[in-house]
Amino acid sequence: MVKKAQKIIVAGGAGYIGSHVVVELLGAGRDVLIIDNFSNSHPEAINRITKLAPGNVELLERDLINPAHKNDIISAVKDFDADSAIHLAGLKAVGESVAEPVRYYETNIGSALTLLSALEAADANTIVFSSSATVYGELNQNPVDETGLTGATNPYGRTKLFIEDILKDLCASAPKWKAINLRYFNPVGAHPSGQIGEDPNGVPNNLFPFIAQVAVGRREKLSIFGDDYDTRDGTGVRDYIHVVDLARGHLAALDYLFAREENGAIDVNLGTGAGVSVLEAVAAFKRASNKDIPYQIAPRRDGDVAEIYADARLANELFNWRADKTIEDMCADHWRWQSNNPNGYKD
Ligand code: UFG
Repeated sequence: MVKKAQKIIVAGGAGYIGSHVVVELLGAGRDVLIIDNFSNSHPEAINRITKLAPGNVELLERDLINPAHKNDIISAVKDFDADSAIHLAGLKAVGESVAEPVRYYETNIGSALTLLSALEAADANTIVFSSSATVYGELNQNPVDETGLTGATNPYGRTKLFIEDILKDLCASAPKWKAINLRYFNPVGAHPSGQIGEDPNGVPNNLFPFIAQVAVGRREKLSIFGDDYDTRDGTGVRDYIHVVDLARGHLAALDYLFAREENGAIDVNLGTGAGVSVLEAVAAFKRASNKDIPYQIAPRRDGDVAEIYADARLANELFNWRADKTIEDMCADHWRWQSNNPNGYKD
């Protein structure tokens, strides 16, 4: 019988992507220990997870970078008898990372190191890491595959690259370690139930949560950052991927790694392979929500590339994963979440 991960630590499991990952794991009958400090997530997400996917889930509310919490975390991971981990804890706002680089390095790298110590102590040596397409520099041809040149343009992106490298060093240090760095393109959408979804603190940085808040009447209009790029309609093109497809990718990656004989760290893109422009995304959201999305054209945003989309073939070759959901699904599900929960989990 093929070996599968059964007892999985999910660091950052109450967050946007983490909550969807936990639902997939519980749905597949796996046991989960969530470690989260709720710094950018809400305990209500855990209640909703348990309703969507009854199963064995525990919560350890601790901060991975608080030295006073480290021993608790190490003991809890051991007591849980973890066999693997999915690491999604960390800060993720690009602009904030430029303003507060030290906090970003400390939090993101520190969290990863604490988790790795706890895994080492529990003799759990399989880890899937939440990396990002942001690790690709600006010099690649689309679609970008995993051999693309890396070169982050901001501290947030550099933390992702550092952690990828830490995992590569770790895997090179001892054959028991196995890791996959999942390079996400642009995760959007929500669970089709409308019960869990993205609930950003403050003004959303990203396109979909911003559009959704305009559609629901929380914000007046969207600013489109540049309409003079060398793309089909002048606006930025990205590879949006439904968060449920993304979540399925974590389970597929973990099971692949768990059954794999060779050690080592592998970089794998998770994207659809297709680009969608900002104007196309606005039009799709308008159709899905039946709401007007007023917008204005604003200057380009620093650090944005014109166009990036994935070559997603490796995930398919290695673990038979592909993104199934369309941009219409992403918009319909994102809208269901936003319209059911206009103020996010605070409702
Ligand atoms: N955009 C707007 N208006 C907004 C927000 C975004 O026009 O209010 C545009 C951007 O200029 C870009 C597109 O919408 O063309 C997508 O922007 P997002 O901020 O949603 O996503 P990014 O591609 O900039 O960044 C995302 C994640 C990062 C990750 C990166 C990897 O947010 O965490 O993808 O490429 F690092």
